[in-house]
Amino acid sequence: MKRLFFTLLLAITFPIDAEQSTPPPVEFLHWWTSAGEVRAANIAKQALEEANVHVEQQAIQGGGGDTAMSILQARAIAGTPPTIAQLEGPAIQSWAALGFLYDLEQLANQEHWRSQLYPIARAVNQFEGTFVATPVTIHRLNWMWVNHDVLRQYNLSPPDNWEALIDTFRTLKRHNVAPLAIGNDQWQIALLFENLAFGYGGADYYRRAFMDMDERTLRSETTFEILSLFREISRLIQPTMSHIRWDEATQLLIEGKHAFQFSGDWVLGELLAKHVTAPEAIGCYQAPAKHTGFIYNMDSFALFNSARSSRKTANTLARVLSSKTFLTAFNQAKGALPARKDIDLNQFNPCSRQAHHDMEQAEQNGRLLPSTVDSMAVSPIVQKATTSEIYRYFNDESIGPEEFILRLENIPRGK
Ligand code: BGC
Repeated sequence: MKRLFFTLLLAITFPIDAEQSTPPPVEFLHWWTSAGEVRAANIAKQALEEANVHVEQQAIQGGGGDTAMSILQARAIAGTPPTIAQLEGPAIQSWAALGFLYDLEQLANQEHWRSQLYPIARAVNQFEGTFVATPVTIHRLNWMWVNHDVLRQYNLSPPDNWEALIDTFRTLKRHNVAPLAIGNDQWQIALLFENLAFGYGGADYYRRAFMDMDERTLRSETTFEILSLFREISRLIQPTMSHIRWDEATQLLIEGKHAFQFSGDWVLGELLAKHVTAPEAIGCYQAPAKHTGFIYNMDSFALFNSARSSRKTANTLARVLSSKTFLTAFNQAKGALPARKDIDLNQFNPCSRQAHHDMEQAEQNGRLLPSTVDSMAVSPIVQKATTSEIYRYFNDESIGPEEFILRLENIPRGK
């Protein structure tokens, strides 16, 4: 009798473990909706299904994941978080501080995460020294994707500084070619700005101005020059822009309707999914900059504890999603670098190998920089406010550099 009671109690408390025969599907929330991203997300689903885990995907539209994160928050508040969620940057620590994430320390030790992960992936996935998310990708954000045919047609070569880029844009416009594939949304515009700020100002400037928000650096001549270049770019491209998604922009780049795109290497995943050759048809170049540098963001998987999940399931999911086999296949499709150092990159696309080379060089030279736009460097509040100010400046000529700088200075710095 006593035994029956305990069995029943266990079944109620740990439904997944107790009902081994038909465990409920795990819900997987992410913002991977483009062709390349869907291909990669399906690799995750397949890997889990091979481990007998049935997966239901909740894919939420929106590059950068703003909408996905709002939905995650609403679900967590309602007490029904998904089992797995794509997370990035300091948000991981915030979720862990609130007690939502499973501690993955045991797996991390078994799999030697501390020695096998790149240092940038080690720090961001821990809360108070404990691993709370599985590191998956390292994406490079300072890429300039170039349609070679279009440049060839007008006898142009890929520019290596921002003034030359603006000249190239002017030439293309004279030939009625819209130079830049980009949608008029906050995230895409802010990514362009971030590339310009690092490329023109350099790593120290970028750190001081946009990570530390140091007043003197923000008010420096460099900021005024950057804002003036940004205004020139906006004058050239803003009048014909629409609100397309980043992957729709990539499609226009592929079709040769635009010559350039500045975005992370999820673009590479898109090109590969669409059987477009890179770097042959669409070239990958570091966005114009004085030095080699590497702006990154990283995706992780967080395992949420809720009535519908269990520690055992969380461990199975984390083990599958951090394995070398999975990370290799996933990152090849995603266009990213795996978060683990012990993965052979020989079978990866040349653009990824270039990214890896540049990442190592950037690390040695102090030019490995977290993206502020893509939630890696600053708290979500500062990130949202900065992105929105950059967007307003880009779209509103009446906002001058002084006003823009003042608005940045007024952003509350709290976490
Ligand atoms: C994510 C990438 C994703 C990109 C575009 C970034 O924030 O880190 O995984 O492909 O947004 O949706």
